[in-house]
Amino acid sequence: MSGSPERADLHARQVSAPAHQGSAPARQPSAPARQAGARALRAGSADSDAAPAAAEPLLVRALRGEPVERVPVWFMRQAGRCLPEYRALRRSSTLLQICRAPELAAEVTAQPVRRLGVDAAILFSDITVPLAAVGVALEIVPGVGPVIERPIRSEADLARLRSLHAEADAPYLAEAVALAAASLEVPVIGFAGGPFTLASYLIEGGPSKTHALTRRMMYAQPELWLRLLDRLAQIAIASLTSQVQAGAAAVQVFESWAGALDPDTYRLLVLPATERIFDAIAGLGVPRIIFGVGTGELLTAMADTGAEAVGIDWHVPLSRARARLGPDVAVQGNLDPAACLAPWEALRPRVDAVLDGGGGRGHVFNLGHGVLPETDPQTLRRIVEHIHERSQRPAADAAPARPDAHPGREREDD
Ligand code: CP3
Repeated sequence: MSGSPERADLHARQVSAPAHQGSAPARQPSAPARQAGARALRAGSADSDAAPAAAEPLLVRALRGEPVERVPVWFMRQAGRCLPEYRALRRSSTLLQICRAPELAAEVTAQPVRRLGVDAAILFSDITVPLAAVGVALEIVPGVGPVIERPIRSEADLARLRSLHAEADAPYLAEAVALAAASLEVPVIGFAGGPFTLASYLIEGGPSKTHALTRRMMYAQPELWLRLLDRLAQIAIASLTSQVQAGAAAVQVFESWAGALDPDTYRLLVLPATERIFDAIAGLGVPRIIFGVGTGELLTAMADTGAEAVGIDWHVPLSRARARLGPDVAVQGNLDPAACLAPWEALRPRVDAVLDGGGGRGHVFNLGHGVLPETDPQTLRRIVEHIHERSQRPAADAAPARPDAHPGREREDD
């Protein structure tokens, strides 16, 4: 956990805030004043005397571990990939063109909300967009991923990677968030690539199964590596800050490929830069999520970034993730994306098992990684409807500290 003054301040505020998960020390504060301030900031006003705003969105409350009336659900990679209306748009525009056109990006951001009924939108962009914005020549090759023209492998290469000035370099990020937030009833999630994941694309020159050149640089040239990560942290901070100021109600750092690392290496060579990102945006008052695939052994280190929530991939049962993370960190996940390709009778018990493993509080339902392109959107809609129905609790019921025994719910863990 970060020992920054920011977090200490947040802890102090929590003392007078409502009880949080029984008597457990409150890690994630409600800090109403801070949130109102952040909202005012996002609305472009400094008026802190404004009347208290309406309740925070369901997603935000769940990420903070607060009692909720039902479990919120969204899907990583819900925009693009499997939606026919996105594919239609892609026939006339490239991915990067859509990302740089705020009206189009906001439209694609909203598409899954309309079609699937999810409780959150995620900005339509890509983790590599801020890199392109600082002049990295890259192409996003369909079905392959980002391909970098001149990989970064030396001090001289690194000198070409400049910092991001979000307003000047990538104004479309904030504009797309603002448009989407204004048109949607559900919160918009902003995001950035994690430093390891972005560094891997930059060093390898494209997608890699082994991340061997990346790990070689970490071991052989740790100083160069740390300077690269420092730059990537700055880029993430600038991008995330502009998204939150434009109205993003939560943020996720996609550290998708960090599972390639052992915990000690992650702690030594990736966590510090990641912690800097999380510390720098802590004061914006929105919950912060970190996610990576194959990160079972890294979960506690990832939580030490200061994140309010950790995304769990499908290899780790949620009950086990909770046991590792403790009660003060929310979990997000973790249905196997391939389960969405199975018939409903086979899929449904898996959805229920994830819901039960999440325990109804401090849980945001999601997949364990992104939606697979061959997924039928109808299946995703059915999952959303099922979760809304099955996790619904009467308001009076939402208050107790921890829903360990739901009538009618079989818990196979804890
Ligand atoms: O959730 C959403 O759908 C919002 C938009 C979004 C995209 N990329 C658009 C996109 C998000 C959140 C991302 C994040 C992203 N991008 C990650 C982290 C998430 C994860 O899956 O682990 C990573 C690793 C990338 C890099 C990337 N971009 C890859 C590996 C690919 C190719 C593989 C693929 O998904 O097809 C991309 C291209 C990309 N980014 C597409 C979309 C919709 C592909 C479709 C297209 O070309 O239109």
